[in-house]
Amino acid sequence: METILFEPTNESLRKAADTIKNGGLVAFPTETVYGLGADAFDPDAARKAYAAKGRPSDNPLIVHIAEIDDIYRLVPKEYLSKGDEKFGTELGKKIKKLSDAFWPGPLTMVLPKLDAVPKETTGGLDTVAVRMPRSEVTLKFIKESKTLVSGPSANLSGRPSPTSWFHVKHDLDGKIDGIICGDPCEGGIESTVLNLAGDKPVILRPGLITPEMISAVLDTEVIYDAALLAKPKLDEKGNAADDPDFHPIAPGMKYKHYAPKAEMILFKGSKENTNKAILDFVKEHGKKDVFVIYEINPRTFFAQLREADEENKKFIVAAALCDDSSISFSVMNRALKAAGYHIVEV
Ligand code: TXA
Ligand code: MG
Repeated sequence: METILFEPTNESLRKAADTIKNGGLVAFPTETVYGLGADAFDPDAARKAYAAKGRPSDNPLIVHIAEIDDIYRLVPKEYLSKGDEKFGTELGKKIKKLSDAFWPGPLTMVLPKLDAVPKETTGGLDTVAVRMPRSEVTLKFIKESKTLVSGPSANLSGRPSPTSWFHVKHDLDGKIDGIICGDPCEGGIESTVLNLAGDKPVILRPGLITPEMISAVLDTEVIYDAALLAKPKLDEKGNAADDPDFHPIAPGMKYKHYAPKAEMILFKGSKENTNKAILDFVKEHGKKDVFVIYEINPRTFFAQLREADEENKKFIVAAALCDDSSISFSVMNRALKAAGYHIVEV
C-alpha cells in the first residue's frame, strides 16, 4: 500500500481522521515518541497495528484521548462518578488530580476497562492504559476521528522508538495508511506508565514524569514495579519473555526494545574514567566503526541509535548516567535495554 504523508493542516487531519474511522492505520506525533494510530474500539484495526509492527499480541496498546471526559468511554462509570459528581470516587479524584497536573503530557494511567474496549486493544487484559498526548495536531486528529485512538510507538517491534516522522517512514513505509508529519518529539522517551487499578499506585514503565512528581500530587507513596529494578535473563534474541523469574506487570517490558544493530556498551564511572575508557575503545576499534555518545540525553538518544545504524557502525559506546535521579533511572532503563545490559565499571 502507499503510505500517505499528511501535512498537519486542518484538511489533511480530517482525512487522516477519516482513515482511522474506516479502520486504517495512521501514525501521529506526540511529545514523547510517534504513535501508530488505530480505532481503539475496532478489534481488526488493533490486529492490523500488531501485524504492521510485528508486535506480540499480548502486549497491550495505550489509548489516546483528547479530553478528560473521554475516560468515560473507556472505564465503567461506577469507578469514576459518585452520584452526580463526576470523578467523585476515590479513583476518580486521583485521575482528576493527575490529569490537572500532567495532561496533556507524558503520563499513562492504567485503569479498569469497560467491555466496549476490545481485548485486542488491551492484549487480553481487563485494564486499559489511557493518556492525553501533548500535541495540538494530534489532539485535533483524535477529536476529528470521533473515536479514540490506540497507539503503540510507531516503530518496528524491537527497534528504537521513532522521534520524528522520518523514523516512522523508515520503519513502516508501505505497511500503514499514513503518517501525520508533525514536529520532532521534544521528550524523546515514552510516557511513564502508572497502574491505578491496584491498591497502590505503581509505576510499570519509568518516564519523564517521576515517582516524586506523582507522589506530590496524590500525597501518597508511589513505587516502581519490582521488575524494573531487576536484571532479567535474556534469550539469544534479547527477549526476557522466557525468564521464569521475571514478571513485569506491563507485558511490554518483557520484550526486546530499542535495539540498534550495532553492539552497545555502557561505561560506568567518574567522568574522567568514562572519557578515558571511551577514548581507549575508539583507539582500539577505530573511529570508523565506533559511534560515541558522551552524554545520554533522552531527547536525542533513540535518534542517535538509528544514526549509528545508518552509518553502519559496529559499536556504540556511551557514558552511563550515574546520578541517582529518577529521570536518569528512566533514561538508563532504555539505555540498558539497548545495550542488552552490557555495562562495564571503569
Ligand atoms: O509515550 C508513549 O506512551 C507512546 C506514545 C505513542 O503515546 N506509546 C507507547 O506505546 O510507548 P507502546 O505500546 O510502545 O508501550 C505501551 C506500554 C507497554 O509496555 C505495555 O505493556 C504497557 O504500556 N501497557 C499498555 N496497556 C497496559 C495495561 N492495561 N496494563 C499494563 N501495562 C500496559
Ligand atoms: Mg514501544
